[in-house]
Amino acid sequence: MTDLSHLRADFPILHQQVNGEPLVYFDNAATSQKPRQVIASLTRYYEQDNANVHRGLHELSNRATDAFEAARKKVARFIGAASADEIIFTRGTTEGINLVAQVWAAQFLKAGDVILLTGMEHHSNLVPWQLAARRSGAVLRHIPVLDDGTLDLTAIDTLLNGQVKLMACVHVSNSLGTINPVRELCAKARALGVTTLIDGAQAVGHLPVNVLDIGCDFYAFSGHKMCAPTGIGALYGRAEMLATMQPWHGGGEMIESVTLETSTYKAAPQRFEAGTPDIAGVIGLGAAVDYLESIGIETILRHGAELTAYAMQRLAALPGIRILGPLGDRASLAAFALACAHPHDLVEFANTHGLALRGGHHCTQPLMKRFKVPGTSRASFYFYNTAAEVDRMMDILHRAVIFFS
Ligand code: ALA
Repeated sequence: MTDLSHLRADFPILHQQVNGEPLVYFDNAATSQKPRQVIASLTRYYEQDNANVHRGLHELSNRATDAFEAARKKVARFIGAASADEIIFTRGTTEGINLVAQVWAAQFLKAGDVILLTGMEHHSNLVPWQLAARRSGAVLRHIPVLDDGTLDLTAIDTLLNGQVKLMACVHVSNSLGTINPVRELCAKARALGVTTLIDGAQAVGHLPVNVLDIGCDFYAFSGHKMCAPTGIGALYGRAEMLATMQPWHGGGEMIESVTLETSTYKAAPQRFEAGTPDIAGVIGLGAAVDYLESIGIETILRHGAELTAYAMQRLAALPGIRILGPLGDRASLAAFALACAHPHDLVEFANTHGLALRGGHHCTQPLMKRFKVPGTSRASFYFYNTAAEVDRMMDILHRAVIFFS
């Protein structure tokens, strides 16, 4: 198995006891831990360069601006965008999707249009579209989910038809681990002139993402699931799409000129970045990209696949377990239900042994209904996790089965 355990030295938080036992952090799909290199980039910025960006003519402002715009270039390169101008900094995936669901939808959606989603969307790629549908009179349709946790594409040519104005789809399901065929879906959509948005919250930093290869119009993701700070993320928008869109928030930095009556606006990305941005967060995101690239995204992918296959094989032997999601190719997480315990009780039990899992509906209530479970327990991995930690999880889960049975 690919061994990246030497990288644990970069993560101070991992070296602690929780409830008297060594911490096993398996809640990476909720948020990843941060390496010293990213933490140091924040400290360095605040200790040496802190100033506002784009508007100063002094040394510190120039340094902050250079670091901020260098991070935009790094992010663009990391996800294969054609230009850094296609990267809009946001607070995270949710904000990126809401930007499109408000600005693009207000301009282009009309009554009777169809918004095509899937049955496995996180609430952040569902509720904004429900709101957009309510405002515009558009209707929502969903690609169904099969029992094995993959999309049912048998009827895709009927569902993805000329009435569809936008298709929004999650790249990697946070609840199932499914990796969706976003490239194929976007190709079909593009052939019909359908606008596409991909929710990449669980994908970027975990598997190679190239927005040009995927062929989407928009791609939203968060920094905090890929070693960057919380509160920073990015929305990729294809240049031609962004050029057609009106501003979202109004304020400083997004304008060209302002009179008391009216204003003219800058082009993207500044047009969509009103106000002082999260400068330190952006610099931290750039540092996270540097860090992940130093490991290699293919190495991270291989490690995740091997560790997850090992965990799946060991979990399958647990009495009364039901594992959700595909058995084969999947992202680095395992969600399961135990016959003997509610997920919340199981996760609390795990916590008493220093094991961090997540339990609940994982912000995918319709998907839980689809699988007829109140929620699941989820172990989600990142490159600093080890097979020995999976073994510790299994010891704790075997104890839980005895405790709850
Ligand atoms: N969406 C994040 C998760 O799945 C918070 O845990």
